[in-house]
Amino acid sequence: MPSITDPLTIRGLTLRNRIWVAPMCMYSVETLDGVPGAWHRAHYGALATGGTGLLTVEASAVVPEGRISRQDAGIWDDAQRDAWRPIVDFAHARGAAIGIQLAHAGAKASIRPAFGHDAGTGSLPIADGGWQTVSSSAGSVMGLADARALSVDEARDVVDAFIAAAVRAADAGFDLVEVHGAHGYLLHQFLSPLWNTRDDELGGDLAGRATLLLEVVRGIRAALPDMPMMVRLSATDWTDGGLTEDDAATIAGWAQDAGADLVDASSGGLVRAAIPVGPGYQAHLAQRIAAVDVPTSAVGIIETGEQAQAIVDSGVDAVRVGRAALRDPHLPIRWARELGVDVDWVPPQYERAY
Ligand SMILES: Cc1cc2nc3c(=O)[nH]c(=O)nc-3n(C[C@H](O)[C@H](O)[C@H](O)COP(=O)(O)O)c2cc1C
Repeated sequence: MPSITDPLTIRGLTLRNRIWVAPMCMYSVETLDGVPGAWHRAHYGALATGGTGLLTVEASAVVPEGRISRQDAGIWDDAQRDAWRPIVDFAHARGAAIGIQLAHAGAKASIRPAFGHDAGTGSLPIADGGWQTVSSSAGSVMGLADARALSVDEARDVVDAFIAAAVRAADAGFDLVEVHGAHGYLLHQFLSPLWNTRDDELGGDLAGRATLLLEVVRGIRAALPDMPMMVRLSATDWTDGGLTEDDAATIAGWAQDAGADLVDASSGGLVRAAIPVGPGYQAHLAQRIAAVDVPTSAVGIIETGEQAQAIVDSGVDAVRVGRAALRDPHLPIRWARELGVDVDWVPPQYERAY
């Protein structure tokens, strides 16, 4: 069994370890143009300095209307590409691989700012700078403003936007792209029978509902044959009648056939559900994907090196860490030392701190 401190190679990209930082929205583009700024340089710089093998930057919108909020980062234009570049270069200088999560929030777009006096109060009205949201089917997800259903042609335009964004990410120097198919956002809105009620080629049975996701994956693979690519799934909706672990394993296999290299197993986000949140509460979802021989990573309250190692011992290829890495960007270095492994991830500037 590999150690979490051992390297992993994905489509020719060698990651120095299996302790990865999960994508986390910072909602910090104050210029409202999707261009990452000082916050992003400092934040990702700190994380790149902490020893991770793969730092994946936040959900970055492939079109402006795919942003969760106006403060989201984007990768739909060249100014964004140019602003990501120094962040990518710094991560490389620190020995970290760096990926970007390509995203479209669909019916969960156009919400109020994440911070400030009216934070978390739902949809941003169009009169205040919000926009008409789109989805697989019309209606309100999670109590937000009603989305309208995309036509088949419009959905195909979204596929093209994902592909163009992936090409732009490659131009920025990113090592990997991640297709966001989870957390109740657009591609999950297509995947889940709880939400996709279409009766055309983009709906119906599991294969129909997976069409859009697989077209994105296939399109990126055709455009970028050598680019490592992962897909994040909500591997269960935690709700009767929703996506199941078995569905996720099937989709993971299809995604691999379409050109994805690894499927990350997250969950939920589309409907309110009773989720048994606790340490490692999603690890079984990654184990289910590993059981169909698709490389996978686990995420969700993985907060000690021992716990992470036990998950990798169970056949999962890597772990991803979110909030614990916000509290301690140097967590990969700390875990390695806790496990008694001597690693060379400490920047020389910080040697005296260890
Ligand atoms: C501040 C914050 C922002 C997040 N943004 C994203 C995101 O952009 N894309 C995504 O797929 N997940 C996002 N997540 C979910 C994390 O990637 C991760 O799956 C989740 O936090 C569970 O892992 P943890 O228990 O280690 O934090 C976010 C989580 C947090 C705390």
